Amino acid sequence: MTSVLSLFTPVEDDLRLLTENLKNLIGARHPILYAAADHLFGAKGKRVRPAIVILVSRATMKGQEITQRHRRLAEITEMIHTASLVHDDVVDESELRRGVPTVHSSFGNRVAVLAGDFLFAQSSWYLANLDNLEVVKLLSQVIMDLAEGEIQQGLHQFSSSLSIDAYLEKSYYKTASLIANSSRAAAVLSDATSDVVTAMYNYGRHLGLAFQIVDDLLDFTGSTEELGKPAGSDLKSGNLTAPVLYALEEKPYLEVLIEREFGQPGDLEQAMELIRDSQGVQRSQELARQHSQNALSCLECLPASESRQVLMKLTDYVLRRMY
Ligand code: IPE
Ligand code: IPE
Ligand code: MG
Ligand code: MG
Repeated sequence: MTSVLSLFTPVEDDLRLLTENLKNLIGARHPILYAAADHLFGAKGKRVRPAIVILVSRATMKGQEITQRHRRLAEITEMIHTASLVHDDVVDESELRRGVPTVHSSFGNRVAVLAGDFLFAQSSWYLANLDNLEVVKLLSQVIMDLAEGEIQQGLHQFSSSLSIDAYLEKSYYKTASLIANSSRAAAVLSDATSDVVTAMYNYGRHLGLAFQIVDDLLDFTGSTEELGKPAGSDLKSGNLTAPVLYALEEKPYLEVLIEREFGQPGDLEQAMELIRDSQGVQRSQELARQHSQNALSCLECLPASESRQVLMKLTDYVLRRMY
């Protein structure tokens, strides 16, 4: 399997610079918050989002060098993502992130909530300093969407009547909005035509949805070693994702197990069995494939370039995680 790392060889130097800058941007004013944030930026995330921002920037600059603003946008994007993860791990009570203990498990919930807030606030400050109102609006919308996504997910816990459309809407808020709007903002900073700006938004939206659907699939098909968390953890916490929603159409008993929140011994195992025995996994793979293909077609409006080539390969990479 091609790792993201080898796929990102053309932007390797940019990403190295980005990680350095991120550590500096956090600043050293509050040692404990710095320690918490540094802890995450020091650990290796895949840096998919800033890589996409850099690639979209290059692909829309028509051969010209990308600007400092493009680079800052990539940093802001990773900052917002990381902030959302710090808060998400509190909500989900997750112990491990990026191969290291989560901020709340190392420093406590209070520090984790503050560290997440701190990162969101920092990102807003750097965002405002880009001096581009359109970009400020796009990324501020993302911060609202992230909160909306977590709230919707919380409200839909163990709700077996959730529709695939509602699941996709939640996934847009949680995951796709950041990729979509940061891609769009990169094109805005390049002064691209409105057609290209819209196409970059749609590329990010479809890619983000495919990414989240595959991530949700891995909860059923991955091993604990691959996932860094026990398989079935989404299901256990009542986060009903595409494979479950499709399986519910075939296996009515699944609804009984979900409605009683897997309260009896063996419920969770039985539910996993029912889902694996259904078309749920296959249909979810098909759904992810569709979004990945849609993402690919959004790139047709770009002139041929190495960056466009990597953006194309990314649509394949998100799917390959599922096998
Ligand atoms: C994790 O995102 C959250 C989801 C949207 C599933 P990533 O898988 O990109 O996390 P990092 O940044 O590599 O840690
Ligand atoms: C990650 O979501 C947080 C956001 C995308 C905002 P999840 O809770 O579904 O993903 P993991 O499993 O913690 O990475
Ligand atoms: Mg979560
Ligand atoms: Mg989580």
